[in-house]
Amino acid sequence: MPCVAIVGGQFGDCGKGKIVDYYAEKADLVVRYQGGCNAGHTVVVGNEKFKFHLIPSGVVHGKRAIIGNGVVIDLEVLCNEIDEIKPRIKKFDLLISERAHVTLPFHRILDDVEECCRGKSEVGTTRRGVGPTYADKVSRCGLRVIDMFDDDLLNQKLDALIPLKQKILKDVFQSKEIITKKDTLNYCLKFREKIKNYVGDASLEIDKAIKNNKKILLEGAQGTLLDVDYGTYPFVTSSNPSAGGACTGAGIGPKNIDTVIGVVKGYTTRVGSGPFPTELNDDTGKRIRDKGNEYGTTTGRARRVGWFDGVVLRYAVRVNSMDGLAIAKLDVLSGLKKIKVCTSYKYNGKILDEFPASLKVLEKCEPVYEELDGWPDVSEEEWKNIAKKGYDALPKELKNYLKMIEKIGGIPTYLISVGPERESTICLKKIF
Ligand code: IMP
Repeated sequence: MPCVAIVGGQFGDCGKGKIVDYYAEKADLVVRYQGGCNAGHTVVVGNEKFKFHLIPSGVVHGKRAIIGNGVVIDLEVLCNEIDEIKPRIKKFDLLISERAHVTLPFHRILDDVEECCRGKSEVGTTRRGVGPTYADKVSRCGLRVIDMFDDDLLNQKLDALIPLKQKILKDVFQSKEIITKKDTLNYCLKFREKIKNYVGDASLEIDKAIKNNKKILLEGAQGTLLDVDYGTYPFVTSSNPSAGGACTGAGIGPKNIDTVIGVVKGYTTRVGSGPFPTELNDDTGKRIRDKGNEYGTTTGRARRVGWFDGVVLRYAVRVNSMDGLAIAKLDVLSGLKKIKVCTSYKYNGKILDEFPASLKVLEKCEPVYEELDGWPDVSEEEWKNIAKKGYDALPKELKNYLKMIEKIGGIPTYLISVGPERESTICLKKIF
């Protein structure tokens, strides 16, 4: 039963796109299980760069790609992505869950006005309408993909939704935006036509695949610390990127997942607001940001950068039941004389080993660091050579760094990435 969940172990942007692409070569199905077009996954193949927001990045290998019910779909973004990606790959094989919820144009407007209204306490959302779409889903007034194909139901839903949202925009937010049923209906009709051949029962198909011993990758977006339950609430996204979300978002039970891989970078980044104990606001942070090209795939925003946080890792390993780690972007740290790893926090003179729920506590936590020797800077080509030779060819300081991370997390490393390309990968444990 080779069903593997790939989850982010930090604040998102940990290089899942590349890792999923790597494993997808041997997979039969790749399923995206939550999030929306707030996500941005990049895959580099030779001179080509693929950027994904909604379609599972595993599609590049020509595998069956499924958008699960837990994803919220911005139809325009999805259709643009289909038009962009389809002609560039040999086989484009997509299934969209009929139970997934739809992000409508007014969700983006609401995301925007809500953020403006929050002022200094803004979440720093991507303003892609993701939060408001999930809010409607949970409020039981959302529009699902399947609802768009029933004219009566679609009309009924929009008749209820549009006046309500217009009232909220006008009366609560004093917004001048005008939203009409006609425009929203036309939007749905236009895009339903484009996606109709891809829509089906994703959960049923995944279940059949499991019963037929197919190899399945469940691809998360964002990361555990942005999880609406486990993240630094309220500075989180509105879904469950953690392994639990892989079950509800793909439509399978927990017993069907046999491996959970946590993807982390060799350092930490965060976009948007919220506490970040190991943040570096100095030249080292700038150097890592520039070398790692830490600018958002979706919004282009500069990411905040910090040292690797072992408290976050320990927490992520626990709440996801992670089996192994995929550690990305280790090449970015090369050339630094010393590298720090946070092993615990100090709060009010006491040592905290566990990630606190209270943001007030977290904001006052000081990282306790262990310092390790860095490894020399080498060219991208040299990293590829090292990767070809395998683990033994890695600089000894880098091996020590990996051992340190494994010790903190209490789980082994399954994969190491030392560059954006497929060749810059060292696989230590095969999953399929
Ligand atoms: P939202 O998901 O757009 O509502 O944004 C909520 C928070 O999650 C903000 O801090 C965003 O910057 C962050 N976020 C959302 N998607 C991603 C992602 O793919 N990578 C990193 N951060 C993200």
